[in-house]
Formats: sequence, structure tokens, C-alpha cells
Amino acid sequence: MDETRGRLTKDGIRIYETADFAGMHKAGKLAAEILDAIAEHVVPGVTTGELDQRITDHVNDAGAKSATIGYKGYQHASCISVNHVVCHGIPGPKVVKDGDILNIDVTVIVDGWFGDTSRMYVAGKRSKKAERLINVTHDALMMGIEAVKPGNTFGDIGHAIQRFAESHRMSIVRDFCGHGLGRVFHAPPNVLHYGKPGTGAVLEEGMIFTIEPMVNLGRPETKVLADDWTAVTRDKSLSAQFEHSIGVTATGAEIFTLSPKGIFHPTWSQ
Ligand code: MF3
Ligand code: CO
Ligand code: CO
Repeated sequence: MDETRGRLTKDGIRIYETADFAGMHKAGKLAAEILDAIAEHVVPGVTTGELDQRITDHVNDAGAKSATIGYKGYQHASCISVNHVVCHGIPGPKVVKDGDILNIDVTVIVDGWFGDTSRMYVAGKRSKKAERLINVTHDALMMGIEAVKPGNTFGDIGHAIQRFAESHRMSIVRDFCGHGLGRVFHAPPNVLHYGKPGTGAVLEEGMIFTIEPMVNLGRPETKVLADDWTAVTRDKSLSAQFEHSIGVTATGAEIFTLSPKGIFHPTWSQ
């Protein structure tokens, strides 16, 4: 794998060429198409394992590779995090119930480029509080993306996300963050979803990374279950997450993982 393109900043963040963005687009588009296609299957009674099997089939049918199968021993093409699961929920026999909220996170490799995205789904009828949480989490991600342009800092991104979520009396998870990606899955920097304006590395055109805030209705603390993957809220409060893979352009951000069907947000598909 060629991980040597472009150059590294003093913070160790790779600067990619404009032509590389086309590769990211292809990978991001497939990941987003997979999340589009799974939407109609997220219904009460389905198991998270069945959803993951559909995702695995979709990756294979597209002639792509899953980035998560084999990653640090992980064995699935998706993470499916239900209700108070914050992230890294392992698909399996768990049956989805009416009113459950699910984050489905997919990372694919296309021609060596990594596309990483996640979004929220609601099975059956959604509660008011689930809807509030999902709206705030989605909008927090978008506030973060709006802060992306050369000259701004990673602290500006984190601050925009944190300020928005906390203004709605929700909390930002500190234990997990976004990450650089490109020809690799996880690279510098750690993209924090909280922070102070003007702090952290300065954004430059050509950087590629994810923003993936996790927002809790209750307190921000998490714990990882005995399976060594599943992260849950300590207080059992509901948690939501949205993730896009983006690139920094001369004037702002290019989102590689936009939904081709325009259904990134669950209420847009109903
Ligand atoms: N897709 C996740 C992320 O956003 C990482 C999942 S790693 C896995 O970074 F092994 F849990 F799948
Ligand atoms: Co990610
Ligand atoms: Co992800």
C-alpha cells in the first residue's frame, strides 16, 4: 500500500493531492450507498446480525473490501450500536425492537482508499426524546463541518460541536474521537468533538479526516463491555452518532460520504 503520497505537516498530518480526493469520493460513495440500502431493512424484528450480513454482501457485490473485518480482530463489516451503546456495537443475535435507535457504521476500502461513515436509524415509531437526540447529533456534526476551512484549527471544529450539543443540555463523549484517514484507516490527528477555539493543529487544504461526534442524553462517561468492543453510556442514557469522511479544500470541506439518496438523516427517508 502506498502511504507515502503527499507530505506530512509538523503535526504528522498527511496532505493529499487534489487527484487523491477522487479516490476518497469513490470509497465514500460506496460506504454511503451501503448505508442508504440498509435503511429499509431497519425494522422491528430484524437482528443486528442480519443487517450486518446484508452489508457484507453489499461490500462483496461491489467488489470492495471491508476495512473492519480483521481489524484488531474485529470480525464484522459494520458496527451496530443500539440505544445506550455509544459505538462499536457488535452485530449478532440481538433483535431490534419498536422504537430502538441504531447507529450503523461502515468502512470500506475501494482501490486502496478508505470510506468511513455512520448514521442513525429508528426502528418503527420514534420517541420525542430519540428524535431530539438524533437531530442535535446530526446538526452538531454539520456545525463541525462548517468550521472546516484552511486556517481554522481542530479546536475550532471541536468547539463548534461541543457548544451546540451542550446548548441543548446534551453531552459530548470524550472517550472516542474522529481520525485522519485516506490510504489508511486511522491516522493522525485525533479529531476531538470538544475543545477551545484557536487550539490544536491548523487545518490545511489536502487534509482528509473523519468527524464523528457521539452525543449522550445523559452524562458523557462511557465504559467498554467484557467483549472488549461495545462501548456504552455509564448512566444507560441514550447515545447517538453521525460520521462523515471529509477533505479540506481551498475554501471549506468536501464531504466524501454524502448520501446518494439524500437520506443521511432518518427523518429525511420517511
Ligand atoms: N468505523 C469506526 C470508526 O469510525 C471504527 C470501527 S473499528 C471496528 O473509526 F473494528 F470496531 F469496526
Ligand atoms: Co471513523
Ligand atoms: Co466509522
